[in-house]
Amino acid sequence: MQAQTSTQHPFLNTITQGNCIDVMRQMPANSVDFILTDPPYLVNYRDRSGRTIQNDANADWLKPAMREAYRVLKQDRVAIMFYGWTKVDAFFDAWKAAGFQPVGHLVFRKTYSSKSRFLSYQHEQAYLLAKGRPPLPKQPLADVMDMPYSGNKLHPTQKPVAALAPLIRSFSLPGELVLDPFAGSGSSCAAALLTGRRYSGIELDSEYFHEASERIARVRGRIAAKRSSQELIPTLR
Ligand SMILES: C[S@@+](CC[C@H](N)C(=O)[O-])C[C@H]1O[C@@H](n2cnc3c(N)ncnc32)[C@H](O)[C@@H]1O
Repeated sequence: MQAQTSTQHPFLNTITQGNCIDVMRQMPANSVDFILTDPPYLVNYRDRSGRTIQNDANADWLKPAMREAYRVLKQDRVAIMFYGWTKVDAFFDAWKAAGFQPVGHLVFRKTYSSKSRFLSYQHEQAYLLAKGRPPLPKQPLADVMDMPYSGNKLHPTQKPVAALAPLIRSFSLPGELVLDPFAGSGSSCAAALLTGRRYSGIELDSEYFHEASERIARVRGRIAAKRSSQELIPTLR
């Protein structure tokens, strides 16, 4: 089955630099098929090399961003949003205030710990959130899955494409539009491209925006090279 997504969407197949609240306000309502995003966890994160994440120490953006995410998502579709477990109350408030209904919770098991204190912290987590009454997938994914280490080369909290691609396959069709309003290094957008979906990414930080844009260009190059080598096969026979 092919998608019904309009080819006229103003932010189709682009990463936009800016505040996602402002950018989503320019998007038509009900224009996105699936949202897959990893917002700041509200933990004031700093990695060993000193890299930080904008808006990770204040939650002013949370409610307005979730309101816009809900508005641009089509009726009877879902969003998957990672969140910081220490701030689950703030995230939950914002999702419910926007209109989202939680319909699932995903745990991503890591082989390494991001931190060790009372526990050795070895998982990431995300909520599956519905707008309206989305249809059930034919073969539902397990809600616990492995998350390989991304290497964090492009971004301090980079998510691996291998963990994102199955989510995109389960909750959207080829050709549909996947939005990531907190795109970071563009992992969700790369996963959308690699699974034959359209994408729209938004990133506030100019450094991560450039990483994401260059990464998407590399992914496009790899896809084009693969296509042309496949096209060459008949002529080589
Ligand atoms: C947890 S990171 C996402 C990392 C991403 N999943 C990846 O694999 O690279 C969250 C990102 O949201 C960005 N951000 C924070 N506030 C934002 C806003 N209001 N609009 C757009 N991006 C924002 C941060 O700069 C950061 O790169």
